Parts: sequence; structure tokens; C-alpha cells
Amino acid sequence: MPKPVLLLTRKLPEPIEARAARDYAATLNSADDPWYRDGAEIARRAAALGAQGILCAAGDPMNAATIAALPDSVRIIATFSVGYDHIDLAAAKARGIVVTNTPDVLSFATAECAFTLMLMAARRAGEGERMVRAGKWEGWAPTQLMGVTLEGKALGIAGFGRIGRELAAMARGFRMKIHYRDLRRAPPELEQGATFHDNDETFLSAVDVLSMHMPGGEATRKWLNAARLARMKPGSLVINTGRGGSVDDAALVEALRSGHIRAAGLDVYDGEPRIFPGYLGLENVALLPHLGSATIETRLAMGERALGNLDAVLIHAKIANDALT
Ligand code: DGY
Repeated sequence: MPKPVLLLTRKLPEPIEARAARDYAATLNSADDPWYRDGAEIARRAAALGAQGILCAAGDPMNAATIAALPDSVRIIATFSVGYDHIDLAAAKARGIVVTNTPDVLSFATAECAFTLMLMAARRAGEGERMVRAGKWEGWAPTQLMGVTLEGKALGIAGFGRIGRELAAMARGFRMKIHYRDLRRAPPELEQGATFHDNDETFLSAVDVLSMHMPGGEATRKWLNAARLARMKPGSLVINTGRGGSVDDAALVEALRSGHIRAAGLDVYDGEPRIFPGYLGLENVALLPHLGSATIETRLAMGERALGNLDAVLIHAKIANDALT
């Protein structure tokens, strides 16, 4: 049997590319050539190859127009990400194309990244690092770069899915009190004593640190706006490792400038890699380049998971474990 034809839009870790090349007639993007930013180009390449599968990643424009332009040969789009707001699921479903993601395997790494940002924001780590590198540090001083401790603070987790729950487990080690906001209350074994809020008002006014883990898309667009920020306690922290579009950037910049929000830590941005210019001049925001799942262990696990989904559909004629359509 000929190997199924697979198009990879991105450079992936070497063992993943090796497995893809072993099991598929795979066309790699080993140079990470940015043609993946152009949906028409993805469709053109898929058509030229007669691709049956596309292994794409977060940010690739797999929107309705791209999906409409794909050749009939495409049976599965496997994204190397847990988020799938870059894929028009309805358009894929209408064409009978299976879409899969990579849940579970990146939950700990992404929670770890949120915790990194929480510590950076609370302890002014970015400011301190910039000071040392700029040669501006003049020695230890009792009032220098005083931050706030996380110990005993109320952590508000917006989106209590797998990543949010991993963060809760880490935060318990810092003796934080856990609050969460989600559409539904979690069962006791997942809640583990965390306080559920069924509305944004009580949730936002209860917390000292807000960590956002919401899916992207229209339903969460600019959720953290000026009105919700105003509900938060003065001096709170805001962390976002979910999707950049969930934050109204102008409102957050204003709250950071006024000091109503003491500090923020961001890993994701609306329209990334573009960064809202207002953040760049602020000392009290830590900015990471979408590192959430970027550990060697996690990226390998994501690749294995994505290939497992492709194998299910294209090699074993089975239902993929992570099928979204
Ligand atoms: C995800 O998996 O959705 C991350 O945000 C990026 O890959």
C-alpha cells in the first residue's frame, strides 16, 4: 500500500519529522519557511501534493476560505496545539474533513508557564533582569523592586479546564486560595476545594491574581475589558496564557498605567506575533513569546499525539482519539 500523503506546515522536533517521514509520503517544512501564514498557499501546496492529511499549528489560517480551497483528497487536519480557534470547524465538518488537536499533553507545561508569569509579575523579575543587564544595579537596597508575595493570595482561574486545574494544583503549594469561573461547576474530585463562581462579578472582585485559560474565538473576544478590570481589586495581577484575543489590550494598558492592575504577565497576543504597542513601554508587564507548551518533553508529546490522530484516520481507518469534527 502506498504511504498516505501528508503536508506539514511547520518545522517540528526532529523525532517527529523522522516518524512522519517513515510512515507517510511527507513533505516537511524543515526550514520553517513562513508560507504557512498564507492560507491560499497551504491549499495550493496541499493540492499540488494530493495531500490526504495536513499537520498544521496554532496560528495557521485554516479558516473557511482556506478550507474551501483544499483539494478533495484532504481527509484530516491535525493541529499541533490544543487550541483550535485558527480552524473553522464548521467549514471542515461541512467538507467531511476530520479535525484533531493535542489536548492533555501540554497542560502541565502551559500551567508552568502561567506560574512563571505569575512569579515574574508578582516579584518584578523582568524589571530586575533588565536593570542588571543595563548595568543600572547599584547593590542591595531595602526598598528596591519590592514586589508582592503569592502566599495566601486568592488566585482566580478563568477557564477551569485541564490547564487551569494544573495551575490550581501548583498554586496550592504556594498556599494560595483557589477561585474559578467556568460555564459549569466542576465535580468535587476536580474542584478539590476551589470556590466556584457562576458570574464574573463575584469572581473578579474576589481575586488578587487572575489567570486566564479561556479558549479563543468570538465567545471570549475582549472578555477582559475596562468594565471587568474595574471590578478587580486595586493592585491585582493579570496573567494570560490562553488566547490574546480574550483581552482588550487598550483597557489593560490603561489599568497597568494607572496602577489599578499592579502587574501583568502575557504569553499570548491578539494578532500575534504583533504586540499591542502600549505594552512595550511598560515596566510592569512581563511579555513572553507564546512559550506555553515549549518544553522539549511536551513538544515531542504533542507531535506524537498529532501523528497518532493522523495514523488513526489515514493508516488504520479508525476514529481519531482527539477528533473535534
Ligand atoms: C496551543 O496548543 O493551543 C498553544 O497555545 C500553542 O500551540
